[in-house]
Amino acid sequence: MYLTHLSLKNFRNYVRLELELSPGVVVIVGNNAQGKSNLLEAIYFLATAKSFRASNDRELINWLAADTDIPFAYLLAKVEKEHANLRIEIAIKEEARKENGANGATMPAVSKRIRTNNVARRAIDLIGLANVVMFSPQDIDLIQGAPQMRRRYLDVTISQVDPRYCRSLAHYNKVLIQRNHLLRQIREKHARPDQLLFWDQELVSAGAYVILQRLVTVSALNELTFGIHRGLTGSQERFHTVCRLNLDVAAGANLAETLHGELARATPEARIGAIAEVFKRKLAQFQPREIAYGMSLLGPHRDDLAFVVDDREVSLYGSRGQQRTVALSLKMAEAEFMRSRTGEEPILLLDDVTSELDAERRSYVLESIKERQQVLVTTSDLHAFDADFLAKSLLLRVENGAIEPVNLATLS
Ligand SMILES: Nc1ncnc2c1ncn2[C@@H]1O[C@H](COP(=O)(O)OP(=O)(O)OP(=O)(O)O)[C@@H](O)[C@H]1O
Ligand SMILES: [Mg+2]
Repeated sequence: MYLTHLSLKNFRNYVRLELELSPGVVVIVGNNAQGKSNLLEAIYFLATAKSFRASNDRELINWLAADTDIPFAYLLAKVEKEHANLRIEIAIKEEARKENGANGATMPAVSKRIRTNNVARRAIDLIGLANVVMFSPQDIDLIQGAPQMRRRYLDVTISQVDPRYCRSLAHYNKVLIQRNHLLRQIREKHARPDQLLFWDQELVSAGAYVILQRLVTVSALNELTFGIHRGLTGSQERFHTVCRLNLDVAAGANLAETLHGELARATPEARIGAIAEVFKRKLAQFQPREIAYGMSLLGPHRDDLAFVVDDREVSLYGSRGQQRTVALSLKMAEAEFMRSRTGEEPILLLDDVTSELDAERRSYVLESIKERQQVLVTTSDLHAFDADFLAKSLLLRVENGAIEPVNLATLS
């Protein structure tokens, strides 16, 4: 799939942008703080209804617009797919200020309206319609950051190809909040342990699907990352990912083992059932402890991934360059995974990625993206690309929230 048109109003430093795009490689060049990352963020937001960096949607509304009567931002993308055209619109609006902050402070609420092909949608139903993979310098957090970053990588990857995963995960997270609340109530003797029964059942059935898909996906990603990582490192390193399921680590289960043997060839529902059974048993064992802590201690909300290069965990022993390369392998595998599952090429967004790679790794990345259906690459330095690569790309310059085509011939 590829973007043919992007409109932005009051999004970050883009007061107004109308941009036509073509398939192939689009190179966006600009100095620091001109709007390169903001542009990719807009595209990512249109595909996922989430920013990869803002913690609050209000940050996305242009500062000047934020001072007007009805602060809003509007984003529109037109996407060409294999068998359909897609029009995605998102409006972010600041609602009337309410007195809901501490000390009676006024906190503006933000609403988000999503439409695809002129029909209103929930955010959860948007995900998967337009697939994107974002590469950014912050990807190193995948290796160095908290487990939440690694779960997010998996969740974004799977959600974009599997709506059931997305729904199960959302349901799981809702159940988790209710269940934690109930566990605290039980601890304070305001509720009874038997009231947990219903929430345990919900947690187990949503959680079992999440766990199965994480296991299956990590194994599919491993098949892809192995070759990609060998390519990136000139066949120097062997890389694989280990799925550290919380049920295994904290409760002594061995779910990969459980799914071996006859279950390896069983239906997905039978496999989910087998995981659910283990999950339920472990929950029963942990119940006194969960009540004492007043929170849910077991389940996929505590899963993690470990990245292993040549038998050593890269977060502990890897150099920064090695960690960066692992993150890059994971992202390239994510794109390949989506393509194999959906039959559509995701749109690749590479934010300033070339700047931190050595010449060989950079040329491997550029070589592998140039045949992709659509790739948007930002850079502050065109020298990172060779003349042949640039000659085959659409070249755009961004300056203070405005974008102009660049004529290669006029560049020195
Ligand atoms: N809500 C907002 N309203 C207006 N401007 C904003 C808003 N949020 C961020 N900006 C500004 O937008 C500008 C461009 O940010 P962006 O992150 O896109 O820069 P960049 O071109 O990627 O730079 P770099 O090369 O440093 O990564 C910055 O000056 C930033 O402060
Ligand atoms: Mg940037």
